[in-house]
Amino acid sequence: MAELLRIEGLKASVDDVSILNGIDLSVGSGEVHVIMGPNGAGKSTLGSCIIGDPRYVKNAGKIYFKGEDITDEETDKIARMGIFLSFQNPIEVPGITLANFIRTALELKTGTRIRMWDFRKELEKTMTLLNMDTAYADRDLNVGFSGGEKKKAEILQLLMLKPELAILDETDSGLDVDAVHIVSKGVEEYKKQVGGALMIITHSTRILEALSVDKTHVLVDGRIVDDGDASLVDEINSKGFERFINCNDCKNEDCEVKQQLKAKG
Ligand SMILES: Nc1ncnc2c1ncn2[C@@H]1O[C@H](COP(=O)(O)OP(=O)(O)O)[C@@H](O)[C@H]1O
Ligand SMILES: [Mg+2]
Repeated sequence: MAELLRIEGLKASVDDVSILNGIDLSVGSGEVHVIMGPNGAGKSTLGSCIIGDPRYVKNAGKIYFKGEDITDEETDKIARMGIFLSFQNPIEVPGITLANFIRTALELKTGTRIRMWDFRKELEKTMTLLNMDTAYADRDLNVGFSGGEKKKAEILQLLMLKPELAILDETDSGLDVDAVHIVSKGVEEYKKQVGGALMIITHSTRILEALSVDKTHVLVDGRIVDDGDASLVDEINSKGFERFINCNDCKNEDCEVKQQLKAKG
């Protein structure tokens, strides 16, 4: 399988605090990778670094996409090259409607003008698939959207923009059962229609049920501490992250895991 994304020795920090401490990762075209890890491990930071979020300083390492070095590229260019990041907490953008946001992104990506009529037809078809009220197309992006509606709007963008690599950051968390079902259906549809690669950051298995997982990576304290297949997801869900956490290195005496281990002696 052709290599799509390659990360070599990536270290990154925010305000001089190091968060990623040397990440190596390779994703092939069309592969499904799952990233798991305790809160604060650096999962969202990894996604943000790949997409070129300027808040994170890359101190070492390289990121390649389709063989091109994108380590220092700007977000716009990275997105146009075919990487999509669905945010854990999608931001509200007053003054830009959901429809205009997607149409502009599509035009930037393809470099061609898209006829309004064709676009609306495709948009409304996709919104219907996601059980979204088509009236949302003309509302300001995410403004006043519920948590579930924001996540559906992210999946709508995914299906419309058809990236070669989609990074989904806890797109399924905090959603009710119906919304999780729709998000899962959308991701499955992306896989079917586009055949792109997925990097899924998640704590639940629901979104993975309809997908065939190629690799699972465990991220702890800014490092990948284990790699495995789909069975690693089940192991973590039943046993937690305890076996991956080296509490001797940890300075946080208030940490629940550390206290549990102490209590056990
Ligand atoms: N923009 C930021 N400013 C300050 N600290 C940050 C920022 N982003 C992440 N961090 C810190 O980096 C660590 C990893 O965060 P994050 O990548 O969000 O973890 P995860 O997604 O695995 O829960 C946390 O301690 C978090 O507080
Ligand atoms: Mg996160």
